[in-house]
Amino acid sequence: MRHSIFATFLLHVVIAFANTEIVNFSASLIHAPALDFLNWTTIRLGENELRFENAPAPLYTPLERVCEQVGPHNCPHELWLVLDLNHVEWASYTKFTLRVSWPASHPADFDIQILTAQDVLRVFSALNRHQSQAELASTRRQYARIRLVDTGVRPPSAVASPSPVPFIIIVEPLYLNVLPASVLPVVLFLLPLIGAAAMLVPVANRFLGEVATHATAELKTVH
Ligand SMILES: *[C@@H]1O[C@H](CO)[C@@H](O)[C@H](O)[C@H]1NC(C)=O
Ligand SMILES: *[C@@H]1O[C@H](CO)[C@@H](O)[C@H](O)[C@H]1NC(C)=O
Repeated sequence: MRHSIFATFLLHVVIAFANTEIVNFSASLIHAPALDFLNWTTIRLGENELRFENAPAPLYTPLERVCEQVGPHNCPHELWLVLDLNHVEWASYTKFTLRVSWPASHPADFDIQILTAQDVLRVFSALNRHQSQAELASTRRQYARIRLVDTGVRPPSAVASPSPVPFIIIVEPLYLNVLPASVLPVVLFLLPLIGAAAMLVPVANRFLGEVATHATAELKTVH
């Protein structure tokens, strides 16, 4: 319990300088259609931090309505990704986290959905003709759908559409199901320091006490 609170605290420190949307999700081996005909960007170990830029949907569009009428490639307000969780180094983790971070100067809301291949086929019913051809494979692969909507307030007279929002997507395993991999080095670095600081407090107090006594004594001899 304690380490999860600590991890959460650190994560908040790390991401406090940007707007962030997070989802945690589970990965397990399932039989799923391969969907190899999709050319979406793939996030995998070593390529798990990617930068994108998309135009947000217009102000007041409900997030769940963004890109309702979709083809797999033609809505500018959403991004589809393949999450390849099959690498051996990721295979032992069952919990992952996906973070979207964007600068506070671009007011926007993000919606993140983590989907299986079956979910993807349901969203794109037009792709169903591929379904019969898609071979079932044993995989941990999942898919992410990321949609964004403008939340900026500007004068009604302004017709200019909102500028594209730059954002970073990070996918990483959660150690002990709570600690993002990128936060682990920070924790390992801080833990001994925190421990050492706690042990040093009495020593420091004694030292300062001695300095004070010494200074008082010196003052006395001077006068
Ligand atoms: C995938 O293909 C579509 C249509 O052929 C194209 O518009 C799109 O840019 C491609 N996406 C990627 C990530 O290569
Ligand atoms: C996801 O996990 C992280 C790290 O344990 C936690 O800080 C965060 O609150 C979780 N987010 C959600 C939406 O569950």
